[in-house]
Amino acid sequence: MWIGLDIGTGGSRALLVNEKGEVLHACTVAHEEITMLQPLWAEQRPENWRDASFEAVRGVLAKSGVDGAQIQGIGLSGQMHGLVVLDEANQVLRPSLIWCDQRSQPQVDWINSKVGKAQVLDYIANPVLTGFTLPKLLWVRDHEPRIYERIRKVLLPKDYVRFALTGEFATEVSDASGTALFDVVNRRWSYEFADAVGVDRSFLPACFESSEISGRVSAQAAAATGLTAGIPVVGGGGDQAASAVGNGIVAPGIVSCTLGTSGVVFAHMEQVAYDPAGRVHTFCHAVTGKWHVMGVTQGAGLSLQWFRNQFAPGVDYDVLMAEAAQAPAGSQGLYWLPYLMGERTPHLDALARGGWIGLTAKHKRADLIRSLIEGVTYSQKDCLDIVASLGCEVASVRASGGGAKSPFWGQILADAFNKPIVTLASQEGSALGAAILAMVGTGVFSSVPEACGALVHEAARREPELGNVDVYAKGHQVFQSLYPALKGIYPVM
Ligand code: XUL
Repeated sequence: MWIGLDIGTGGSRALLVNEKGEVLHACTVAHEEITMLQPLWAEQRPENWRDASFEAVRGVLAKSGVDGAQIQGIGLSGQMHGLVVLDEANQVLRPSLIWCDQRSQPQVDWINSKVGKAQVLDYIANPVLTGFTLPKLLWVRDHEPRIYERIRKVLLPKDYVRFALTGEFATEVSDASGTALFDVVNRRWSYEFADAVGVDRSFLPACFESSEISGRVSAQAAAATGLTAGIPVVGGGGDQAASAVGNGIVAPGIVSCTLGTSGVVFAHMEQVAYDPAGRVHTFCHAVTGKWHVMGVTQGAGLSLQWFRNQFAPGVDYDVLMAEAAQAPAGSQGLYWLPYLMGERTPHLDALARGGWIGLTAKHKRADLIRSLIEGVTYSQKDCLDIVASLGCEVASVRASGGGAKSPFWGQILADAFNKPIVTLASQEGSALGAAILAMVGTGVFSSVPEACGALVHEAARREPELGNVDVYAKGHQVFQSLYPALKGIYPVM
């Protein structure tokens, strides 16, 4: 048996999987709330991730009655881009600036002026964005120099948990790609870029392919989790690459749309290609020697979560979906801009702000909720169009994440994308992908595509409804005209 351990934003989830890829048991432990000390800031405590993920492992072993000695391998996945800084004694120096933290625009500007945008693209195949790890590290350098001078290691969220599990400082290619310090084309750290911006090379951990063994469970971690010392821990993946493995996005043609807190359109690439405007990320895939491209909507599930917290506390998402279904397609001309935490694809604008446009006195709450779903979907369509423009074939789209659990949202995706939307037998995404990577790493399968071919199965397919395809094609055009019209006022808000 194998464990996939996903260190998400909302919680840590441990999944116990057998050799058929069947999920035997799962245990999720919630994380503390994100701390938002200022509007664009978002922090979490790495020690909380460690404690929650260890508790999730203990929980899944307890629920299943499986002895730790029966676990053959562990795979990690996790929220990407977060900054964890450790001192000489391996203590966490400050809370992590997580993936959606947008405070580092001045550092991004500094990098671009010091190194030059074209040279940056040459080093890492992507532009540096405010959400990536490097500018966050430089923010600490600029604002907390006393902390910066004590830094000895820089880790990503799941790799801090790896350190707690194994004592090793290590990462893998898919998550490393999101640091902005990784030479994505050559699958190694860009020490040249680190030198150019003055980041000490020794901060960077060892880097593996996702299915390679990166370390083994230590005696100390075994005592804390119920595992046995010596269990191999494979590289694993950033949550998106791991989720793509769990969804079988490991060959050309099938694209995924994952609707979690953020929304991600993800495609496999045999050969590396990147958008010259940098609107989508080109990162290493968790499949050895392959790449992927992804477009990200910052505030996908977050839009619904925000609405619920503010206007319908405690109400089930299913109830909100049923209410939204009472409104007509197009929400009577109401549009939602999901830029609650700035936006990545396609605008790359940390200052973009969310909002409803087109509100009139006749709109009901049902229109407001439906427009949230449609606005997020339009933004995901922006991502899909750019991914397709890079030459990625889109035969069908596999939907996953919390949003994909709703058949109502699934149909809106089918209609707005004008593509069949497929859901899978297992909705486990990243934790399952991490477990599959562990199975490959411990020799059950010879490659990730072989494992996915055997373990990932389609369950249902939803075709576009022609009438609504037209409504959403027109709606998408209007949606696309809104950001350019508003862009000029965001900096003064
Ligand atoms: C990907 C991204 C999100 C986070 C949080 O680039 O930022 O997927 O990893 O889920």
